[in-house]
Amino acid sequence: MKLATVTEQWGGSLPGSSASSLRSLSDVVDSLAASVEAKDAETGKHLYRSALLASACLESIDPWLATRQEIIYGFVLHDVGKIAIPDRILKKPGPLTAPEWSMMRRHPQVGVMIVQPAAFPSETIDVILTHHERWDGGGYPYGLMRTEIPLAARVFAVADAYDAMTSVRPYRPALARSAARAMIAAGAGTRFDPDVVAAFLQMLA
Ligand SMILES: [Fe+2]
Repeated sequence: MKLATVTEQWGGSLPGSSASSLRSLSDVVDSLAASVEAKDAETGKHLYRSALLASACLESIDPWLATRQEIIYGFVLHDVGKIAIPDRILKKPGPLTAPEWSMMRRHPQVGVMIVQPAAFPSETIDVILTHHERWDGGGYPYGLMRTEIPLAARVFAVADAYDAMTSVRPYRPALARSAARAMIAAGAGTRFDPDVVAAFLQMLA
């Protein structure tokens, strides 16, 4: 899958040659995503699947925001920092130790370090940096709460979790979609923005 698939699905279009800097960024997005996929095929596929889900959900909440290319870049590149996570941790078929978990939790900031040389817009950086923050303040890296977390990242957190739950992981089989929907619903108001959860579940209905 390519960035254009995600963009065109929701009525947007990739920048043309008259906007060469954004066009170049689109190519950087696909190159970075390809490098993630080369390291770990499942994580690479997850980038685009979760971006499609998040775009669909955001479209039902804020249609204008859902067409912003800067936001979609962030959706696709959210886990680019996992390039820096050793395979013995990324593909570990069991629970992570405390030091391994500590390294895994650095991937949002590492992702920002990776994309920063390409001068991505702040909206892109925000999604990468805050996609593991939680509505109740218990997330990382900053422990942001509620609307301190950008809307796009609050939407993405739900899509990311749902896609992870319904995919095979090294340490467990994929959950049934009904079980994943129930877990997303159970996270409303704690892990996730309750309004986003309502929109997401409505979208899946
Ligand atoms: Fe992540």
